[in-house]
Amino acid sequence: MAHVPEAVHDHSDDPGFVTRTKFLTGVALVTGGVMTAAILVPVIGFAAADTLKPEEWRWVDVGALSDFPDGQVTSIAVSGPAPESDRRAFIRNKEGALLAIWNRCAHLGCPVAYSAGGDVYSCPCHGGAYDSLGRVTAGPPPRPLDRFDIKITTAEGKDVARQEDVAKGVPTAGAKPTDRVLLGRPFSIDEDQQPYELKGPGEPVTGVLANLYPF
Ligand code: FES
Repeated sequence: MAHVPEAVHDHSDDPGFVTRTKFLTGVALVTGGVMTAAILVPVIGFAAADTLKPEEWRWVDVGALSDFPDGQVTSIAVSGPAPESDRRAFIRNKEGALLAIWNRCAHLGCPVAYSAGGDVYSCPCHGGAYDSLGRVTAGPPPRPLDRFDIKITTAEGKDVARQEDVAKGVPTAGAKPTDRVLLGRPFSIDEDQQPYELKGPGEPVTGVLANLYPF
């Protein structure tokens, strides 16, 4: 007796029927959307955090010049009105000038550590590494470590020296050990130590990506 094949049902006229191709296309679109969101949401979050919380800065007295010995990098907590309270800075007193380097990693913001042996900074989170001036030497950070404005005044508040050239820092030659060191507004720099308005973690200051950020 001849074998009679089972009837094949054609669903193509059924408005509720989803073909395999349509189903796979839908899966691809949903997966792509989730992946795009996973990439953009944290990035947009950083950008929004920067713009939604305008920060006010003022000069903060962090000690006498003698607290920052010549030839050394001294780590200090920058205390003052919120939101400065949780921040640390490295005061670098080398080559006759002071620089104030922020400990916030330029990648995603982890606190970097200073190593006096190599005179370098390293980030524990994703291997970011910076040289003596905070310029990137390895890892994912898109720009150097940010800086604080810095100046030296007398105990009475009269300016002794200011940071006219960011790359050179504040000259200490004319200052007394009892003069005061003050930190001011933070800013970002590029690899040539040219100043830029403060950027958020992960945000480049130069190149095509700087114009496209965060998109
Ligand atoms: Fe420092 Fe990622 S947060 S390398």
